[in-house]
Amino acid sequence: MDDAGLPPLSDDLPELSALPAEDIPVAVRETSLGASSLTDGAASSQKRPSLFWGLLSLAAIAAVALPLVFAFRPQTSTAEAPAKPTEQTPTVASTTSLSETDGEIPESAEDSLLGHLPYEEAPASDLVPLPPDGRVSLRKAAAEQFKAMAAAAKADGVILVPLSGYRSLAEQDDIFFGVKAERGEAPSKRAEVSAPPGYSEHHTGYAIDIGDGDHPGSDLQFDFEETEAFKWLKENAAFYSFELSFPKGNPMGVSYEPWHWRFVGDRHSLETFYRARSGDTSAQPVQPEASTSPDRSNAANAGQAR
Ligand code: DAL
Ligand code: ZN
Repeated sequence: MDDAGLPPLSDDLPELSALPAEDIPVAVRETSLGASSLTDGAASSQKRPSLFWGLLSLAAIAAVALPLVFAFRPQTSTAEAPAKPTEQTPTVASTTSLSETDGEIPESAEDSLLGHLPYEEAPASDLVPLPPDGRVSLRKAAAEQFKAMAAAAKADGVILVPLSGYRSLAEQDDIFFGVKAERGEAPSKRAEVSAPPGYSEHHTGYAIDIGDGDHPGSDLQFDFEETEAFKWLKENAAFYSFELSFPKGNPMGVSYEPWHWRFVGDRHSLETFYRARSGDTSAQPVQPEASTSPDRSNAANAGQAR
């Protein structure tokens, strides 16, 4: 037995090199022996056996050797077998993130409705209530950063008030259709200042409407832009990974909302808002414009813009 547990094949077979050349079947001579074995004049001048005897010899050798080869062929267990190629694993640009598998992220701007993109509701398990009264919630990562941001603003004498954070589909349904009916507005008009249910950034748990504690009359109004809170946010929000979602002249055509900020400080939030989608014009960084004259073209709607 050799190291691999195989019996020596030569036990039952004559050493080919020990045979006279004329006894070596022609097929073996031409394939198993090197050319150097046949370079002497005697061998090369030997009369060849008949084809019949050559084939017979070859068959005899095959009959002995083949069963041995198959009997001792290394076996590959199922466990060791290389994995069957599977369907390609979804890439980052597909529907799940590394850290979150709770919701699908829309693939295409073709899914947009009246200028708004679809968003999944954040899972309740990831929502954290914000101070002072816990009525407003954000996803955990966004909530932590908002609290840090509010504390920093407070240290600068500015009170950031959370007005509205996560919203369910039912809540957005009331906001969109309730006010629309109350005002007799067309859907397109209503959509300028409010997202239809299923299409609000507030569903994600990353968006928050912020007020100024010293100027509650500016809540959800364009003149929030003139508050210390807005000025502070313009200067500092990016340090806490918040950005203005709907600046003036935004490509989605949504009314300017100086109070509406979104968290983009982790992979899932970034994918949620910036995933490349064909024709998705929102996948561009947007910055609040420095302006002292707010666009008031939608001022009449501002009170119900959320
Ligand atoms: N207020 C904005 C339009 C939203 O709900 O996404
Ligand atoms: Zn909002």
